[in-house]
Amino acid sequence: MSVHKEDKKKITTLQLKKMKQQGEKISVLTAYDYTTAKIIDEAGIDVIIVGDSASNTMIGNPTTLSITLDQMIYYTKAVVNGTKRALVIADMPFGTVSGNPLKSLDAAIRMMQETGADAIKIEGGAEIREDVKKIIDAGIPVMAHLGLMPQSINKYGTYAVRGKEEGEAKKLIEDCQLMEELGVFGILLEKIPADLAAQITQQISIPTIGIGAGAGTDGQVLVIQDVMGMNKDFSPKFLRRYADLYTVMTEAAQHYIDDVKTMNFPNKTESY
Ligand code: KIV
Repeated sequence: MSVHKEDKKKITTLQLKKMKQQGEKISVLTAYDYTTAKIIDEAGIDVIIVGDSASNTMIGNPTTLSITLDQMIYYTKAVVNGTKRALVIADMPFGTVSGNPLKSLDAAIRMMQETGADAIKIEGGAEIREDVKKIIDAGIPVMAHLGLMPQSINKYGTYAVRGKEEGEAKKLIEDCQLMEELGVFGILLEKIPADLAAQITQQISIPTIGIGAGAGTDGQVLVIQDVMGMNKDFSPKFLRRYADLYTVMTEAAQHYIDDVKTMNFPNKTESY
């Protein structure tokens, strides 16, 4: 059964809030290119995040730290070009929002102006409150990213579940409340206990989007390559694969190679 919407009207941040109020779950996927964005937009996805996971999935870097603002702008523009209905959120990469509000605002303005994205996503809590305030005051919609923050991998040294221990859970709840007060339109919660994510979701009036955060958030996000089964080496507990494109693409490539080698391609009808 498909419950996706036939409504072609552009999704707004206000609409995401209404979806939370009405109990309608928000569907989110990442994308980094025009073609994929067009496919998932036409399939009815509500939100597309151009994640800095592009550093891993598109460039093959071991962490998200190496992707630059210019590279994120390049991927985001491609996604915006392929999208009509979904809200497009661009990730601000490592180092662009880190305690210097004027510098952060410059980076956020570049991202919005040069890509046409609808909003940006920023990793971090109280440490970047002034940056977030400055950006929101300039009229740029912000989604906060809390819980596991991959840009802080060198600080924590692990991608393990966050917020399991009381002190960390308390700081996470406070950060979520602070971000709501500052005016973010939503919060992405990555890899935290399901009970904690559900508690936060009930306590705040803006939508939460979870990845590895259980069923109690207002929406769910996954990385497109993982959902489509393009990546055999990444199998976290929270991932559900909806296709096996690794096998489909490998077999198609092998078939093509065989046809070229045996001169079965191109045939007469495929020639001028
Ligand atoms: O970079 C990314 O892909 C993310 C996802 C969790 C949306 O932040």
